[in-house]
Amino acid sequence: MTNMKQLLHIIATPRGEESSTLKVSKVFLDNFKKAHPDCQIDELNLYSANLPALTAAMVSGKYVLLGGKDLAKDLKKAWKPIEDHIKRFLSADGYLISAPMWNFNIPYLLKQYIDIIIQPKYLFQYTAGGVEGLVKNRKMVIITSRGGDYSEASPFHKFDYQEPYLRAIFGFVGITDITFVNAQPMNMGPELEAKGLEKAKAEAVKLAGAL
Ligand SMILES: Cc1cc2nc3c(=O)[nH]c(=O)nc-3n(C[C@H](O)[C@H](O)[C@H](O)COP(=O)(O)O)c2cc1C
Repeated sequence: MTNMKQLLHIIATPRGEESSTLKVSKVFLDNFKKAHPDCQIDELNLYSANLPALTAAMVSGKYVLLGGKDLAKDLKKAWKPIEDHIKRFLSADGYLISAPMWNFNIPYLLKQYIDIIIQPKYLFQYTAGGVEGLVKNRKMVIITSRGGDYSEASPFHKFDYQEPYLRAIFGFVGITDITFVNAQPMNMGPELEAKGLEKAKAEAVKLAGAL
């Protein structure tokens, strides 16, 4: 068990109490809190966070940084909402993402959040040896739920662009210790749903104790 002081819980479903994903996340968090009584949970609900839309100025700031230069005063001002989100992200030493599968991938607000925070000089940098992720020594748990079954044995496995994408983008910034709990299938009848939820909850309990 590691000494985690702050866990950032990023919620990417609008379904609140109805959410299958959050049912599993709740089990994870209840057990995680027992294992880490001093850890603060910072909850970022993307549906109430009013995420900034990326303006032309914000996007041009990214190219300035990619060119190895610093942001001039006006761009620095435009970047304040981006820097605030990056600061909050980096102040955590562990992450929980709760995200359903939407159209084989992640919900668009989670993509918007990723487009906001994944920035050169802040989360990654280019070196002579290639790309270096700057988010080091952090663990991430990603809890998803899906209407269908995308497990390895399923013929639909190849349509799962959610888990490979999230592994790629967070791996790019240095977060390589990522464990997935996928609740599936949620929308193929009550029996399969109950079985899928039970299996995911059991995985979440184990993981919360081991983290
Ligand atoms: C916009 C939208 C797109 C969805 N796309 C998929 C999909 O591509 N594959 C799938 O299996 N389920 C899909 N679903 C079903 C959800 O993944 C499933 O119901 C999930 O359990 C919802 O999680 P939540 O209750 O935490 O919001 C979609 C649901 C919505 C609302």
